Amino acid sequence: MSPQNPNLPPFSLTTPLYYVNDVPHIGSAYTTMVADAVARFYRLRGHSVLMITGTDEHGQKIQRTAQEKGVPPQEHCDDIVHSFSELWQKLNIHHDRFSRTTADKHEKIVKEFFTRVWDNGDIYLAQQKGWYCVSCEEFKEERELLEGGYCAIHPNKKAEWRDEENYFFRLSKYQEKLETLYQEQPDFIQPMSRRNEVLSFVEQGLQDFSISRINLDWGFPVPTDPKHTIYVWFDALLGYMTALLDPDDEPTVENALKNWWPINLHLIGKDILRFHAVYWPAMLMAAGVTPPKQVFGHGFLTKDGRKMGKSLGNTIDPIDLVDRYGADAVRYYFLKEIELGQDGDFNETRFVNILNADLANDLGNLLNRTLGMVKKYCQGQVPDLDPSELPRDWSLKQLGDNLGDRVVVAYEALQFSQVCELVLSLIRAGNKFIDEQAPWSLYKQKKQTEVEQVLYAVLESVRLSAYLLTPIIPGLSSKVYKQLGFDLDLDAQSQNTDDHNSEMFTQHSFAEHRFAEHSQWGYLPPGQKLSQAQPIFAKLELPRE
Ligand code: MSP
Repeated sequence: MSPQNPNLPPFSLTTPLYYVNDVPHIGSAYTTMVADAVARFYRLRGHSVLMITGTDEHGQKIQRTAQEKGVPPQEHCDDIVHSFSELWQKLNIHHDRFSRTTADKHEKIVKEFFTRVWDNGDIYLAQQKGWYCVSCEEFKEERELLEGGYCAIHPNKKAEWRDEENYFFRLSKYQEKLETLYQEQPDFIQPMSRRNEVLSFVEQGLQDFSISRINLDWGFPVPTDPKHTIYVWFDALLGYMTALLDPDDEPTVENALKNWWPINLHLIGKDILRFHAVYWPAMLMAAGVTPPKQVFGHGFLTKDGRKMGKSLGNTIDPIDLVDRYGADAVRYYFLKEIELGQDGDFNETRFVNILNADLANDLGNLLNRTLGMVKKYCQGQVPDLDPSELPRDWSLKQLGDNLGDRVVVAYEALQFSQVCELVLSLIRAGNKFIDEQAPWSLYKQKKQTEVEQVLYAVLESVRLSAYLLTPIIPGLSSKVYKQLGFDLDLDAQSQNTDDHNSEMFTQHSFAEHRFAEHSQWGYLPPGQKLSQAQPIFAKLELPRE
């Protein structure tokens, strides 16, 4: 594993806790791939990382789905949860905690938290009248609905009229405190466009919102009035807190907060921004808890330029996609092609073309042909030379020299497409360089020193590129490293930093590695014996119509 650097702060991050009304869709896969890449980046650098994902299992939507299937809700949830774990495994995603809101320990946390807010005087009983979208599990303003009373996010679902007694959370009391939070922590909501959205929503004046339901069994009873069930969102957001408990901990709020709080990053989609950037910090303030450090709202995916939906019959099945093309291909497409924060599109032809161009041709072929030449001209070992003596004016070396630092900045800003572009610029320069330098003709001219210098520079560029892409394509990066003769499994290196009771953790015997060394151009050990050249990424083909 990457040696932990005690000088680096721990890093905790979450995906949303996904509804289990159905098997995972591409939207959930997208957020979780992003989260995994962030987690791997911090682990590689030596941070201690806790990545949380999980499922949101209560509420009317889940209760109704189970009813339609004719099974008890818990049985339905247990059933669906497997498909999430299966997908995360297939996508090579390594979460440290999987938080299920039906867990016993979660009930204890929710009750204690509710009581804290109650004792603070921030919960009261009143009449709730309004339009409710069960699919969003959210009340909607009449003006937000489409013609005929349909929900804008679920255009095939009609909002339902509710007129019932509910407990309310005094959100309005936190107006000023929230405004101060947004000012004092300007990065709290990212990207900027989402921050502005939230600021203008808050500016209009916050209204209290109801946090209990009647006529609903599937959820936790309100501790002070068990006729009521706690609202699914109040319950679900606290799933992030429950996830922080170590397995042997007594489930108390204090224990949950002792190690990883405040959470560094909540990664979410833009549709659930208000819950995370407004309701959640206010709930925490009401319970005397510091808000998280950042909420990042990503965009929505479309398919072939059209909104996706079951009713439209154009969903993408992430399991099918990864079965056909492999985890690295799927991860690479979504992280490179979609600028995090913007909406993005999936198109299968573009998918295949990009993967073939970037990974099969530019990266894969460069490695393959260079290894072939090294075998022929340098006895199959990394040329034995002093990398600091390579010609200073080689553009390839100049490009490589500060690449690691630029890539780190892009990773820290969650700009994965920029990471890929930066690395690709080195890979493409490597291809151009080898064509221009033509080591095969240098060899014929018996210029062995030049041959070795050229091949070292190209191999090193491939190594650095693969290393820097580890968080995005861990499987492929590992393969490249093995072929370059390293006894280092980059995939495993970026999965865990320490044994914090990770559910996915398996014992590996790792050679230690240091990010500061591997992320710099010139690290490839001279004289290192290389492994057999094998294609690292087979060309993809579109399915025949
Ligand atoms: N259960 C809540 C979250 C509770 S967090 C305490 C929930 N679940 S969800 O399963 O409906 O949505 C999960 C995520 O998928 C959200 O971040 C949502 O933005 C995302 N997406 C749903 N459809 C999407 C696309 N078409 N594109 C990208 N992401 C999308 O909300």
